[in-house]
Amino acid sequence: MAVINVHDKSFETYLSEDVIQKRVKEIAAAINSEYAGKRPLFICILNGSFMFASDLFKHLTVEAELCFIKLASYKGMKSSGKVVTSIGLEEDLFGKDVIIVEDIVDTGKTLHDFLPKLSHQQPRSMKIATFLHKSEATEYPVKLDYVGFDIPNKFVVGYGLDYDGLGRNLKEIYQLV
Ligand code: IMP
Repeated sequence: MAVINVHDKSFETYLSEDVIQKRVKEIAAAINSEYAGKRPLFICILNGSFMFASDLFKHLTVEAELCFIKLASYKGMKSSGKVVTSIGLEEDLFGKDVIIVEDIVDTGKTLHDFLPKLSHQQPRSMKIATFLHKSEATEYPVKLDYVGFDIPNKFVVGYGLDYDGLGRNLKEIYQLV
């Protein structure tokens, strides 16, 4: 098992690239069949979801639109506790089939605070795809429709997720030692 350092902390491999890619394909396949004949709009939440969104999108066979928006900041190793405003949502969601793409749902606060802002635009449907879910950490329940992996309540980096700005480039997911 590989151990890496990011800033002052050590992390060990938790999900390999192969395991991740296999799961991303499965999620894309589920979306392809559930959205056959539709044209979903993927709203991807920056920064963390960029890698998951990119890999997922490559495996879509349905017509689909995509945009990226920026929401909260997450400083260091615990949630800042407040969601900052959203930037970059220019699409009109009325009547659209929206799929929100997140890197990780931890306490659930980010999505819990953000979802009402989207639903008041009256999309036809709204589902959530998150690469990781720390279900043990839930404080704000949110219905998650596509979950890559349910993981223990431990800090992770890689595959888009960072520790204080670093680690996003890693192809695997690493867990704090
Ligand atoms: P929530 O609002 O508590 O659900 O937190 C969601 C956000 O916290 C995610 O979009 C991430 O940016 C960040 N986050 C939560 N857990 C981790 C982690 O283990 N590593 C890196 N970022 C995390």
